[in-house]
Amino acid sequence: MLKVDGINVFYGDLQALWDLSFEVNEKETVAIIGSNCAGKTTTLNTISGILRPRTGSIEFLGQRIDELPPHRIVELGIAQTPEGRQLFPSMTAMENLEMGASVPEAWRNRNRTIEWVFELFPRLEERKTQMAGTLSGGEQQMLAIGRGLMSMPKLLMLDEPSLGLAPMLVLKTFEMIERIRKEGVSILIVEQNVYHALELADRGYVIETGKITIEGESKELMDNEHVKTAYLGL
Ligand SMILES: Nc1ncnc2c1ncn2[C@@H]1O[C@H](COP(=O)(O)OP(=O)(O)OP(=O)(O)O)[C@@H](O)[C@H]1O
Ligand SMILES: [Mg+2]
Repeated sequence: MLKVDGINVFYGDLQALWDLSFEVNEKETVAIIGSNCAGKTTTLNTISGILRPRTGSIEFLGQRIDELPPHRIVELGIAQTPEGRQLFPSMTAMENLEMGASVPEAWRNRNRTIEWVFELFPRLEERKTQMAGTLSGGEQQMLAIGRGLMSMPKLLMLDEPSLGLAPMLVLKTFEMIERIRKEGVSILIVEQNVYHALELADRGYVIETGKITIEGESKELMDNEHVKTAYLGL
């Protein structure tokens, strides 16, 4: 479904990603795990068209997307829930959701999609007229994910959804993602919370200083000695 092939990404002269290759298959959940500054956000931002690879290619559903503008990539079916949520704090939950339906096709279907999001997350319906900035951390994360779903994505990319949440809310967030996965949406999740990410995902990649160093089924990664010592604290 998504094929990232040998991308090299730079910030000015500074190289952030080195010959990065990985894939996400239809209906699959894939985790990219790595510590601070490894290049996780850079990877997602390159797929969503905010950054451009200097070399290498990205294909989605058989089409090259690495030269398309971000809104075209959303139209093709990729949504990103950004790191730190980036909600509009003085707009209501409902208005934030509508902001996610920015491309024409999604806008036409927004009422139906909102119903679907409220079915998935009844809590959001209860809070729909509340300002996003006054929602609890967990509710804000739910809203950020809901906003991503408003573009009716085939692939949802989540940038550290558990960041800054108390342990109880981390569990709840991963339960929410599990629900979305059951709806048949493919998921690419980047996380420092390696244990939960690998529990959720079918496969995973470890990224270290901009390079993929280990890849495999989630179970294999959990048993990998380097993953155990460096990321699982075992
Ligand atoms: N706008 C930028 N300008 C210059 N360098 C950047 C920029 N954004 C990121 N970098 C650098 O690129 C590298 C990868 O950063 P990135 O944000 O992708 O890491 P990350 O894995 O998402 O980290 P974190 O877990 O802290 O979010 C880092 O060395 C970072 O300093
Ligand atoms: Mg990041």
